[in-house]
Amino acid sequence: MGGQRIRTAVFPVAGLGTRFLPAAKAVPKELAAVVDKPVLQYAVEEARAAGCERFVFVSSMGKSALETHFDRNLELERTLEAKGKTALLEAARAAALPDGALVVVRQHAPLGLGHAVWCARQAVGDEPFAVLLPDELLWSEPRCLAEMVDAHAAVGGAVIATMEVPRALTKKYGILDPGGDEDARRLTPARGFVEKPEPEVAPSTHSLIGRYVLPAETFDLLEAGERGAGGEIQLTDAIDKLVGKMPVHGFRFTGQRYDCGSPGGFVKANLAMGMARPELRAELLAFAREMAGGDG
Ligand code: G1P
Repeated sequence: MGGQRIRTAVFPVAGLGTRFLPAAKAVPKELAAVVDKPVLQYAVEEARAAGCERFVFVSSMGKSALETHFDRNLELERTLEAKGKTALLEAARAAALPDGALVVVRQHAPLGLGHAVWCARQAVGDEPFAVLLPDELLWSEPRCLAEMVDAHAAVGGAVIATMEVPRALTKKYGILDPGGDEDARRLTPARGFVEKPEPEVAPSTHSLIGRYVLPAETFDLLEAGERGAGGEIQLTDAIDKLVGKMPVHGFRFTGQRYDCGSPGGFVKANLAMGMARPELRAELLAFAREMAGGDG
C-alpha cells in the first residue's frame, strides 16, 4: 500500500503578487526576505529536507530573478572567500541548487492553481510528486513536507496538509471533508475536498495549507481544465476527484504557519523568525515591548 519515493517538488510561482505592490513591481514577491532569506528559499529547503532532488518552478514572464537566486554566484563566492567570510560564503553556497536540479516551466495565463500544477506535468513525469505553495511559510522540526513524505511512504495515494482555522475563515481556503478519525500519524481519511466554502456549508474547519503529496493521476484530472471556485482551475477539485480511486488523507500540521501572501502575515513571519534567531532575539523582544507599551 505504501507510496513510491517523492523526488520532485513543484513550486507555483507565476503570480503577479498584487497584494505586495509596489514592492512586487520589479522584484518577484517570492524573493522578499523573511529576516535574511527569501520566502521561496524556505520552501525549497523544506523540499530538500524531505529528500526531493528535482525542483520545478512554474513561473511566468518577468520573474527570472527566481531561478537566478538558486544559481551559484562565483564572483560573490570568490570575494567572500578572499575576505575570509566563511559563514556568509556558506550561506551563499547553500542557497544554490545542484547543477541540473532546477527546471523552470512557464504558465502563460493566471488560470488557477490547478492549471499551474498541470503546467509541470512534463517536468514531473509519471511518478508521485510534492507541491509547495511558498506563500505559506511552515516552520517546525521536522519540517512539514518531510513528515508528509514519511506518511506517504506508509499509506501511498495522496497526502494533503491541513490546519484548523476559525469557521469564519473557511471561504479563504480549501477545506477537508473528513471521512473518519485521525490516526497516530495525524492522518485523517478524506471523504472529499471543497475549495473556499462559505462557513455555513463548510464540511469542517481543516484548511489546506499549501503542502501536497500527489499521484501522477492528478495531471489527468486537471487535463479537462474544468473551472471551479472563482472561475479558476482548482487543484482542490482535482484532489477531490482522487477520493475513491486511491487512499487520500489529510495530514494535520502542528507547527507554526505564517501567511507570507499578505502584508500582515509577512511582517509577523519576519518578527517570529527574527525572534527565533538567538543573535536577534533580545533586540527584537525589547523593541516589541516598547511598541506594545506605546499602545497601552
Ligand atoms: C490556494 C488553494 C487553497 C489553499 C490555499 C492555501 O488558495 O487554492 O485551497 O487553502 O492556497 O494558502 P489561494 O490562497 O491561492 O487563493
